Amino acid sequence: MDAKTPSPRYSTEDRIGVLEELLNERYSVRAFLPREVPREIIEHVLNVAQRTASWCNSQPWQVLIASGEAKERFRKSIYAEAASGAGDDHDFAPPREYVGVYLQRRRESGFQLYNTLGIARGDKAAYAKQALENYNFFGAPHVAIIHTNEPLGIYGAIDCGGYVSNFMLAAQALGLGTIPQAALARHSGLIRRHFNLPDDRRVVCGISFGYADHDHKVNSYRTSRATVADAVTFLDE
Ligand SMILES: Cc1cc2nc3c(=O)[nH]c(=O)nc-3n(C[C@H](O)[C@H](O)[C@H](O)COP(=O)(O)O)c2cc1C
Repeated sequence: MDAKTPSPRYSTEDRIGVLEELLNERYSVRAFLPREVPREIIEHVLNVAQRTASWCNSQPWQVLIASGEAKERFRKSIYAEAASGAGDDHDFAPPREYVGVYLQRRRESGFQLYNTLGIARGDKAAYAKQALENYNFFGAPHVAIIHTNEPLGIYGAIDCGGYVSNFMLAAQALGLGTIPQAALARHSGLIRRHFNLPDDRRVVCGISFGYADHDHKVNSYRTSRATVADAVTFLDE
């Protein structure tokens, strides 16, 4: 261990154990209690996430957090645009198509959600109604908008993705629930106008957060993951 690396406070077993526990526990929360999160807890999450790595240490993430009346004004505005059937207005192009195993996984997680809510397969009106809940932030008392600097391109968005993961894990460790939301980025223009973001900012996604409503059925299922063997190729020779 060199002079710059302090001796760890916890054993290796504890360190990896806590990380695994947080990763295994975390799930996308789609029903929240109305109770607000104290500002010092939000700031703790933000301080932890601020250590995220980024290309050239550019740290392109800027984060807007709307709570209280500010959240309510934003909710009304983005919900109205989403419900109006306005077309996509993404800053970053969304997936062009889900094919093969990606389509399978998308379907599987979608059916888990709909089955849990008692929505019948193929009931497009009910799918659309549930999708609109994104714009009520699933009842969360806080919503964060993560945006990056346009000239950094896709790598600025990747850095923001790392930030989002660290935000979610820190929030999990502090007893909060989160959901990352690309759905909000479908209305990037509205977000830029609503919050007076400079022209060179690009919306990556949102994160709604607060205290999870553990008794709500939408929070009762967990998604699966492919195995390491499905994801990783070792090359030794
Ligand atoms: C970048 C990103 C964007 C997402 N956008 C949405 C979204 O707009 N709405 C939503 O309900 N879930 C969204 N999710 C949640 C995913 O559906 C969820 O992470 C995935 O199904 C795995 O489930 P889990 O988070 O419960 O483990 C998003 C996740 C990520 C990482």
